[in-house]
Amino acid sequence: MKGIILAGGSGTRLYPITKGISKQLMPIYDKPMVYYPLTTLIQAGIREILIITTPEDAESFRRLLGDGSQFGLLLDYAVQPHPEGLAQAFIIAEDFIAGDAVALVLGDNIFDGHSFSSALPQCRRPGGGIIFAYEVSDPQRYGVVEFDAAGQALSIEEKPAQPKSSHAVVGLYFYDGDVVDIAKSIRPSARGELEITAVNEEYLRRGALQVKRLRRGDVWLDTGTVDSMSEAAAYVEVMQKRTGIVIGSPEVAAYHEGFISQAALRELATPLLKSGYGDYLLAAAED
Ligand code: TTP
Repeated sequence: MKGIILAGGSGTRLYPITKGISKQLMPIYDKPMVYYPLTTLIQAGIREILIITTPEDAESFRRLLGDGSQFGLLLDYAVQPHPEGLAQAFIIAEDFIAGDAVALVLGDNIFDGHSFSSALPQCRRPGGGIIFAYEVSDPQRYGVVEFDAAGQALSIEEKPAQPKSSHAVVGLYFYDGDVVDIAKSIRPSARGELEITAVNEEYLRRGALQVKRLRRGDVWLDTGTVDSMSEAAAYVEVMQKRTGIVIGSPEVAAYHEGFISQAALRELATPLLKSGYGDYLLAAAED
């Protein structure tokens, strides 16, 4: 399975901060935002990952993450000239996907929770599509899933004025190789975007969409606004200091997946000790 991190967009809800820097390079406590979704893909056991950015920010992402070999990954880069929708990622990534199954994660989404991360490897053969729903208090901001009494998804609506449930679709999607053709077949919405909801509706129409509900205790944070970004930073800080376990570390996830050795993890920690981040890597190497 391949992976895509979608890290373009315009970030207008964070203006003026994001006028000069990509949202997904902003810090969430002690590491850049993009580390968190990258960690999620690694936890799913995915090694080949394409990072899609705006043309202006591409170089900064390369400087941060390089070719990924330090994490035992193969990282590649592509640009999205204009933010024309999440589903455009599959069209941009067509050659990279090359008919394989693919996971897409949004560059500003943070996931945490043991039951969540341990369920990820089962999504590597999606047999259609697998998406996740999370109960939120403001569903009209998201794609919203309506379930029947048996827990089967009945409908998905993008940013409905009158949501049929409080279950929002989170920014992590697993699809089989059909997703490229599906993305090519959908038309832009009224706001001019190729909507991921249209992709999900097509899988639902085919009877090939699984909607998994995140469990109590699993955490999903969308960091697109000033308040949600600072709440996410507070969450990471408190959890890391209390538990001693780092959240959103590609180095540690790569070590747990067996992508890098214990010696390599220790070596990665050395230049990161002054900030304190390296200490978490050393602790993980000793665990
Ligand atoms: P959004 O948060 O919906 O959009 P945005 O980042 O442009 O922010 P704003 O609403 O503040 O202007 O996007 C979710 C994620 O997807 C985010 O990581 C940016 C990314 N994205 C793209 O890379 N390309 C796109 O065409 C869109 C719509 C989003």
